[in-house]
Amino acid sequence: MARVLLGVSGGIAAYKALELVRLATAAGHVVRVVQTETSLSFVGAASFAALTGAPVLTDELERDPARGAFPDQAPPEHDPLSHLELVRNADVYLVAPATANTIAKLAHGLADNLLTSAALAARCPVVVAPAMNDGMWAHAATVANVATLRARGVTVLEPGVGRLASKGEEGAGRLPEPGELLAAVEAVLPAASGGPMDGLRVLVSAGGTREPIDAVRYVGNRSSGRMGFALADEAAARGARVTVVAANVALARNPRVEVVEVETAAELQVACEARFDGCDVLLMAAAVADFRPARVADGKLKKDVVGDELAVAMERTPDVLAGLGARRRPGQTLVGFAAETGDEAVAYGRRKLAAKRLDAVVVNDVARPGAGFDVPTNEVTIVTAGGERHVALTSKGEVAAAVLDTVAELRAVASAEARP
Ligand code: CTP
Repeated sequence: MARVLLGVSGGIAAYKALELVRLATAAGHVVRVVQTETSLSFVGAASFAALTGAPVLTDELERDPARGAFPDQAPPEHDPLSHLELVRNADVYLVAPATANTIAKLAHGLADNLLTSAALAARCPVVVAPAMNDGMWAHAATVANVATLRARGVTVLEPGVGRLASKGEEGAGRLPEPGELLAAVEAVLPAASGGPMDGLRVLVSAGGTREPIDAVRYVGNRSSGRMGFALADEAAARGARVTVVAANVALARNPRVEVVEVETAAELQVACEARFDGCDVLLMAAAVADFRPARVADGKLKKDVVGDELAVAMERTPDVLAGLGARRRPGQTLVGFAAETGDEAVAYGRRKLAAKRLDAVVVNDVARPGAGFDVPTNEVTIVTAGGERHVALTSKGEVAAAVLDTVAELRAVASAEARP
């Protein structure tokens, strides 16, 4: 099963896209459709809506009643931007029919309607199925545009040869038949899916928050974000759709992972809460400040004004993870991280498991050499209700793999228990 986003642009061949939707849904896929204004003159949105069982969008600013969710998904609680959320959920984006005009826009990165802006935001494979008059297909501009798209990794299908829409005309430019379109879509899917976490939505928090004292100073911690980013990379490699809420992380970005930048615990809380309901797995690796300055000074504190001593009153921050644990829904898997020191580390971790309503706590003894903050290695104990798994000192990538193996085991047990 795949989530197929179908972009329909304005050509006579749009009617064939209806048949494609029928074939795709019969094959077990779920489909959402975006149409250009012009395409509505050829096929009405009501036809696509009936076949997909989901609203059809044409306008970028139009509110999506399904809030970017595909028919197999529960809509998130917030109202996301359609062009971003639809492609984030999609496993593949098929533009069929793609007119010469739409192909030109895609090649030049224009985003002047929902179809093109969704293409610009897409990180899933994009398949373009051209349909146009043979002269337009052979035109140097179209040839160059197609070459540009292909060089960028977009799959541009060869149009069929035969009778064209205009009376008496024949040549290359026919939209491939619906069966061929479906085959082309399915051919690109293994690149995006087929992994053990296929289709799962994973939310990761990474890095360390910074709490401002004044306009230039902050209270922070030594977390580099390496552990969180390793988890995100590993989850993406296993086929998950990953979003990282990154607090002050200076590491390279993985193009397959969506990154939301935050600075403070309050910003991290807002970002995580907005995305929590839509995720299947939460990996809370960020080092979130437990305290922040109660008041942020206006401008920069001056030595001669402050005097010899500076006392900064600190207040507690909300426990983001505990808040999310309190509103968790069935089917979600929550993993916390605990930076501890000393012999009691695992016992503290086990207490957090219950207190924050988690499925696992990854405990790392930050006092051990090679473990914890700002180093590429880690040594952890993964604590679950059923036991403990020690991961000896190794790379954070290996630790991430062990954490995700545990998540997979926990989810297999939970789904077996949920069955009647
Ligand atoms: N965490 C959070 N919000 C906070 C503090 C922590 O979401 N304000 C999360 C962290 O991301 C981590 C887990 O809670 O996944 C454990 O963090 P830790 O600071 O070790 O836990 P505390 O319960 O604050 O324990 P302690 O009293 O030992 O600091």
